[in-house]
Amino acid sequence: ADRYAVVGNPIQHSKSPFIHTQFARQTGQIICYEAILAPLDTFRATVDAFRQSGGKGMNITVPFKLEAYTLATNLTERAASAQAVNTFRFEKDGAILGDNTDGAGLVRDIETNLGVPLQNKRLLLLGAGGAAHGVILPLLQKQPAQLTIANRTVGKAQQLARQFADYGRIDTGHFLDFAGEHFDILIHATSAGLQNELPPLPAGIFTDVLLAYDMLYRPQLTPFLQSAQNGGARQVADGTGMLVEQAAESFLLWRGIRPETPAIIQQIRQMQS
Ligand code: ATR
Repeated sequence: ADRYAVVGNPIQHSKSPFIHTQFARQTGQIICYEAILAPLDTFRATVDAFRQSGGKGMNITVPFKLEAYTLATNLTERAASAQAVNTFRFEKDGAILGDNTDGAGLVRDIETNLGVPLQNKRLLLLGAGGAAHGVILPLLQKQPAQLTIANRTVGKAQQLARQFADYGRIDTGHFLDFAGEHFDILIHATSAGLQNELPPLPAGIFTDVLLAYDMLYRPQLTPFLQSAQNGGARQVADGTGMLVEQAAESFLLWRGIRPETPAIIQQIRQMQS
């Protein structure tokens, strides 16, 4: 069986081995997929050892996505623009292809699973850290009417806007700058939710919102999704679908076949509840 793995620190709670094992079963592919804990200072050695032992590809998670970006010898356009890599494919000639499937996973979850096309929609992305950075290109490629990035530190949002200027216009500001504005889709990509916190959002921001999406996945409704629901958002979703869809994109890169995701998304939601 071809070997794959997810590498991170911590890694214990990763759902990737479960997801990829289900994908393999469903598509009749014979692979083995494990979870590897890398010490914080030996990411590179961990990757090399896995490759030397016959590994064909890896997923990379927190906190190694930037290091993975520098280790890759070739980059897909979406990985280059994200400046972060969550998928390696080890090529026969020794090259390491670095890809980033997070944004594609988010877009697919929103459009295909949740049924909300992004084209011509007004999007508000909350946060300007690594998680936000990783999804900007795939969002812009869907040609939304508007992409606005709100962040606690406005300078970081402005930097992203400059960096992606060739791909499309991005408006920026602080969270509270957008009082009275209407957006169709809100995407939460700050790390505030990890502490069960929430960025300060203007009153009324969720009124008639088609979709409030939290990139975090949590057993309970996150503070962001609670506010969204209370504030009148028509649909709310956590990052479970994105998690499974980014995995499906990686599987496609490795195996040339796209697995079906809805049943697995369901299974993970059930495991959590
Ligand atoms: P990640 O990879 O999760 O995006 P990151 O690169 O450290 O992690 O970025 C964290 C993001 O969450 C940033 O947008 C950060 O805002 P700043 O750029 O102003 O630091 C945001 N963030 C973290 N804690 C927050 C909080 N309590 N309130 C609002 N924003 C917060």
